[in-house]
Amino acid sequence: MEDRFITSSKNWTDAEIENSLRPTALTQYVGQQKVKDSLKVYIQAAKSRKDALDHVLLYGPPGLGKTTLAHIIANELGSQFKVTSGPAIEHAADLAAILTNLGKNDVLFIDEIHRLNKSVEEILYPAMEDFALDFIVGKGPSAKNMRLKIQPFTLIGATTKAGMLTGPLRDRFGVICRLELYEPAELQEIITRSAGILNIDIDADASLNIAKRSRGTPRIANRLLKRVRDYAEVLGSGKITKEITDQALAKMEIDDLGLDFIDRKILDSIINKFGGGPVGLDTLSATTSEDSGTIEDVYEPYLLQLGFIARTPRGRVALEPAYKHLGLPYTEN
Ligand SMILES: Nc1ncnc2c1ncn2[C@@H]1O[C@H](COP(=O)(O)OP(=O)(O)O)[C@@H](O)[C@H]1O
Ligand SMILES: [Mg+2]
Repeated sequence: MEDRFITSSKNWTDAEIENSLRPTALTQYVGQQKVKDSLKVYIQAAKSRKDALDHVLLYGPPGLGKTTLAHIIANELGSQFKVTSGPAIEHAADLAAILTNLGKNDVLFIDEIHRLNKSVEEILYPAMEDFALDFIVGKGPSAKNMRLKIQPFTLIGATTKAGMLTGPLRDRFGVICRLELYEPAELQEIITRSAGILNIDIDADASLNIAKRSRGTPRIANRLLKRVRDYAEVLGSGKITKEITDQALAKMEIDDLGLDFIDRKILDSIINKFGGGPVGLDTLSATTSEDSGTIEDVYEPYLLQLGFIARTPRGRVALEPAYKHLGLPYTEN
C-alpha cells in the first residue's frame, strides 16, 4: 500500500516536497480565481484599515491548496501565522492558551476544524465574535461569569467536510471559500512550476498528460511528477517525455482518467456486487476494505465530478459513464 498516490494522509517525503513547492504569494497560487479575487479585496481592505481580516473558512477535498492558501493569506497580510488542528486541541484550556498568546491581527490556522470537540469549540464563539474568552469562576450560587479580552485576530479554518461544522461555528466565519477541483490546464501550470523548482526537464505534452491524470488535485499532480521523474531517470535520459509518462503511469496502474486500483475497486463493487447500487457508504467501505472517510473525502469527489457515481438518499449508484469506462454493459435499473 506504500505505493499509493491517492491518499488523504501525507508521508515524510511528501511533507518535504510539499513545502518546497508551496507558493507563497497570491499571484503564484494557480486557479481558484473567484476565491483569489474576493480574498484580494478583503485582504486589501483589512490592511488599509489596519484591522484583522474577517475569519475565513476554507473547504474542499484534500490536496486542493487549503493549507497553502492559509499561509498565503497570512503572508499577504504581513501577519504572524500560527498553526494547529482540531484533533490536536484536546482541552478548552489548550485553546484558551493559544488564543491569549496571539498578537494583534495574527492569523491562527486550525486545520481539520470540524474535529474540534464541543467544549473546545465553545471557547471559539466569543473569541471569534468579540475577541474575548468567557469563564465561569466558582461554583453554585456564587459562580460568576468573567470575560477576558484577547487581541483581535483572524481565524482561518480548513475542513474537508463543511457539512460537519456546527451552525454556530460556521456562522462566525465572515468569508467562506469553497475550493474546486482544478482544470487540466491549471494543473499543467502547477506541474510546470514545480518542475522548474525541482529542476526537472519536462515536455509540454508530458506535463499535460500528468495533469489530466491528477484528479483535479495539485497534491496528486506534484506527487505524480516526482514519481514520473524517477522513471525517467531509470528508463531514459532523465527528460520527461509523453512516452515516459505513459509508461510510468501504466506501471502505477493509473489509467487515462487518473483512476487507480482503489477507484476501480469501488466502482467494481457498486456495479458487480450491488447491481449498480444504491449501496450505503459503510457497506461499500466493508466490501472494499477502504476507510469510509477516505472513500468519501478522497475518492468520491472526483468520481462524482466525472459523473461516474451519484449520491442518492439510499446510497451511492454507478452511472453509465462508469460502465463505459470499465468496458461493462450498461442496463438501466
Ligand atoms: N493553487 C495552487 N497553486 C500551486 N500549487 C498548489 C496550489 N494548491 C495546492 N498546491 C500544491 O499542492 C500541494 C498540496 O496543497 P495543500 O495546501 O497542502 O492542500 P490541502 O491543505 O488542501 O490538503 C502543495 O504542495 C501545494 O504547494
Ligand atoms: Mg492541508
